Amino acid sequence: MNKIEPPLALLAELSHRCPLRCPYCSNPLKLDAASREMSTQDWLDVIEEAAGMGVLQIHFSGGEPTIRKDLEEMVGRAEDLGVYTNLITSGVLLDRDRLERLAKRGLQHVQLSFQGAGMANGDRIGGFKGGHAKKLKIARTIGEIGLPLTINAVMHRQNMSELESMIEMAVDFGANRLEVAHVQYYGWGLRNRAALLPTRIQLDEATAIVEAARERLKGVMVFDYVVPDYYARRPKSCMGGWGRQFLNITPSGRVMPCHAAETIPNMKFEQTGSRPLLDIWRHSEAFNRFRGTSWMPEPCRSCDRREIDWGGCRCQALALTGDAGNTDPVCEKSPERERILELAHGESAADFPEFEYRSFGESA
Ligand code: SF4
Ligand code: FES
Repeated sequence: MNKIEPPLALLAELSHRCPLRCPYCSNPLKLDAASREMSTQDWLDVIEEAAGMGVLQIHFSGGEPTIRKDLEEMVGRAEDLGVYTNLITSGVLLDRDRLERLAKRGLQHVQLSFQGAGMANGDRIGGFKGGHAKKLKIARTIGEIGLPLTINAVMHRQNMSELESMIEMAVDFGANRLEVAHVQYYGWGLRNRAALLPTRIQLDEATAIVEAARERLKGVMVFDYVVPDYYARRPKSCMGGWGRQFLNITPSGRVMPCHAAETIPNMKFEQTGSRPLLDIWRHSEAFNRFRGTSWMPEPCRSCDRREIDWGGCRCQALALTGDAGNTDPVCEKSPERERILELAHGESAADFPEFEYRSFGESA
């Protein structure tokens, strides 16, 4: 096997706790309870190890990472070690004081999520009354403090009509970047797929809106656009390839190649502190299972894109075909594609069911 390069980034899931209950949350259905969360010292040790092995970015995420009172310490340690820090937040627990403290400790970027452009849909989709108003306030404060801001607009069939207003809202906040991300179908998103997946026509309309706005707002705001996998011809290069660029650590300290890897049966995840993080990255069974190309079946094995998309997403292959070792079935070359797309498109054209909101009901 070629030399294993160190990861570029660490996704630090500090806590699965979150005041919001979004029905498309990518957290697992079985959430980590607060009592299982790692201590401050455990996380500081992880940050030191990550920096030592060459990680350049830490994305503090959750659940809601600001629920941890020790976030400032973690940001400060990463900053001292020269690691870029990004806070991925719903914003509803933040106020000016806390943001100023985080900025003072070196926080470099905030990614703030919105569920809709208006209060009614925003609060309904997030499952948190008053959440939208709090988000509006904190988005402005982030700009006033001078922190670079990305707005993360998660789109689906129940808020697609608000896309233009979401774009205006992001411009109004002075956001540097807008991520228009159609829901990806993992975790709670997969469970609620029938309530979320747009039709092809809705998706094409959204794409036209984003393309026009991207042109109009050149030099003002950068757009990232993530389409639902189910309408792509080729799969995305999930995580930039398994065990190639990203490391994910759960609130209780399991070290994983991606946020959904725990859905894969018979895969053992090692615990932070059980041996050096670099050893886990290089030598653990979980990181090596789908690393590189030698695990690939046909049609990936002989495909000229095998080192571009790395066979797509393992967790999606599992969720849709029952085997994580299959070609991602959203790929045109997959023998499973037609059956799956027919099913999904049927769902998107039917009336949508009620959301099943994220909850700790199934937590360990
Ligand atoms: Fe990617 Fe495999 Fe499809 Fe080729 S066959 S495009 S490597 S998923
Ligand atoms: Fe696990 Fe894509 S989410 S490989």
